[in-house]
Amino acid sequence: MLVRCLLVVALAAVVAAAAGRLALAKENNGGRARWQVYSPAPSPKKHPCLENPPNMTENTGGEAGDVVHGYGGLECYATGSRRSGGRAVILVSDYYGFRAPKLRKIADKVAYQLGCYVVVPDLLFEDPYTDDPARPFEEWIKTHSPVEAAEKTKPLIAALKKDGTSTVGVGGYCWGGKVAVELSKTEETKAVVISHPALVVVDDMKEVKCPIEILGGELDTISPPQLIHQLEDALDQNKRVHHLVKIFPDAPHGFACRYNATDPFAVKTAEEARADMVKWFDKYLEIMKR
Ligand SMILES: *[C@@H]1O[C@H](CO)[C@@H](O)[C@H](O)[C@H]1NC(C)=O
Ligand SMILES: *[C@@H]1O[C@H](CO)[C@@H](O)[C@H](O)[C@H]1NC(C)=O
Repeated sequence: MLVRCLLVVALAAVVAAAAGRLALAKENNGGRARWQVYSPAPSPKKHPCLENPPNMTENTGGEAGDVVHGYGGLECYATGSRRSGGRAVILVSDYYGFRAPKLRKIADKVAYQLGCYVVVPDLLFEDPYTDDPARPFEEWIKTHSPVEAAEKTKPLIAALKKDGTSTVGVGGYCWGGKVAVELSKTEETKAVVISHPALVVVDDMKEVKCPIEILGGELDTISPPQLIHQLEDALDQNKRVHHLVKIFPDAPHGFACRYNATDPFAVKTAEEARADMVKWFDKYLEIMKR
């Protein structure tokens, strides 16, 4: 019930942000900040998480990995090599799901660069958001809770460990950013990277237990720089965790995984975001010496 309430509150913020009517207010109770929605009327306009939807038939030059069924109970795109004592990375998609060719390309590159196993689970259970006008986003999101998705990721992490993985990192994009943050509150993961997150709130940062990197976009209206800096302030007060926060100039929401492949600046920005994520995982995911 609490989870549902939180989601509804977060969703209201997302909807209001789309309408450009979200105002930020800092309360004087110990620096606690929260979003205030002054106009709760839903916008008929598409909200920014849904702009630049991925091209699902795009040719990105082939996939290095395979779809695996029932790994930790999930269908997954899996790429790279699984080594005993090695590390693994789980990448969690945005609303458009685990089939997006660019996301799989990122997984292939991360696997290659880290020399590890990378898994992109289908946490939307064959029901990604599809821009179908018969099913508005506000309806769709009600049955796609990132908090529940984080719970469903735990058996996947257990399966990876059973297969000899020593540490697991989680990278999340947009909706997947909230999934990654939920997992960072547990002992399940050793490092987390979130790119242009959605639904992540300041209070989440108080519970983070592992090193976290936050990659925000200067032009992102879902998690604008203002919010990203508030997340950073909350992390500064959460002394337990190493964190790094970066805002990419001129980058819209979706810049890390839904970039325009014919725009050199957008490509460069996305590559930099991927490189930053790889560096973070390389630093914080230990390899067991055997
Ligand atoms: C999506 O990718 C396919 C295959 O590369 C291409 O033919 C098509 O034009 C692309 N669609 C858009 C909207 O860019
Ligand atoms: C992608 O970038 C190219 C080159 O800058 C531009 O001509 C094109 O309009 C962009 N496509 C979209 C969908 O923004």
